[in-house]
Amino acid sequence: MTDYTAATRACTPKHSSMIDLSGHKPFAQGSNRKCYTHPLDSSRCLKVIRPENITARFKRQSPIKRLLGTERLNDNAQEIRAHNQRVLTRLLEKGDEGLLWAHLPRFYGSVPTSLGEANESELIRCADGSVAPTLERLIKEQGLTPSLNLGIDEFLAWLWQTKILTRNLLPHNLVVSDRFDHPRLFLVDGLGAPTIPQALDSVPGWSARYIKRKIARFRKRLAWEQSDEGLSWEDFQGLR
Ligand SMILES: Nc1ncnc2c1ncn2[C@@H]1O[C@H](COP(=O)(O)OP(=O)(O)OP(=O)(O)O)[C@@H](O)[C@H]1O
Ligand SMILES: [Mg+2]
Repeated sequence: MTDYTAATRACTPKHSSMIDLSGHKPFAQGSNRKCYTHPLDSSRCLKVIRPENITARFKRQSPIKRLLGTERLNDNAQEIRAHNQRVLTRLLEKGDEGLLWAHLPRFYGSVPTSLGEANESELIRCADGSVAPTLERLIKEQGLTPSLNLGIDEFLAWLWQTKILTRNLLPHNLVVSDRFDHPRLFLVDGLGAPTIPQALDSVPGWSARYIKRKIARFRKRLAWEQSDEGLSWEDFQGLR
């Protein structure tokens, strides 16, 4: 079933009948989803859930949390909820699409595929047509160059300006495109907040405090990605 969220009203899926992904190879995958180039439009991608992962995560949950079911572990469902957050809906209503999609891939909702429901979104590419690399890869390959730092500062300023809610920002969930005058970051995964924080976003000052914490944590994470102390992320956080 095609699911149109508020944020997808302006953008619709390429195709609403079943898309056959058999014989196609994902261009990337995370721990929860496999990402395919849309067979009918190479400027879009389709993300399908890796069901084995939901089962494994469910088994690790406490009995209380298991009562809440597996749906809350479905990253595609979470992403749709994330696109329904108040700020995004407001930006769309105001027609502020340039600002909204400046650092987010355009989102087209859910479409049926031979591998189950997929979330369809813009596939972020580089000037030469290749899929944009993750910030994590670039930091490993070249370190935090001044131009990459500029891209990071611009992304964080956008987050602060828009007050779009995100989960913990992780360098493997940000991709970097060179199609602009300096590297531009796009958040390809990790939009939104858990149910209660997302519901509190109309409380004055609440979103600002939430985002401030996410930005501070991300800065710490970048310091960890660059450090050669050999500490785990947990130990690194504890020490600072
Ligand atoms: N819109 C996009 N444009 C370019 N590359 C993308 C896009 N979406 C995802 N990718 C690539 O695919 C990888 C996996 O995608 P994604 O992060 O959505 O999967 P996931 O399983 O939800 O991740 P996680 O392991 O963080 O839960 C990303 O790290 C990125 O390299
Ligand atoms: Mg990811």
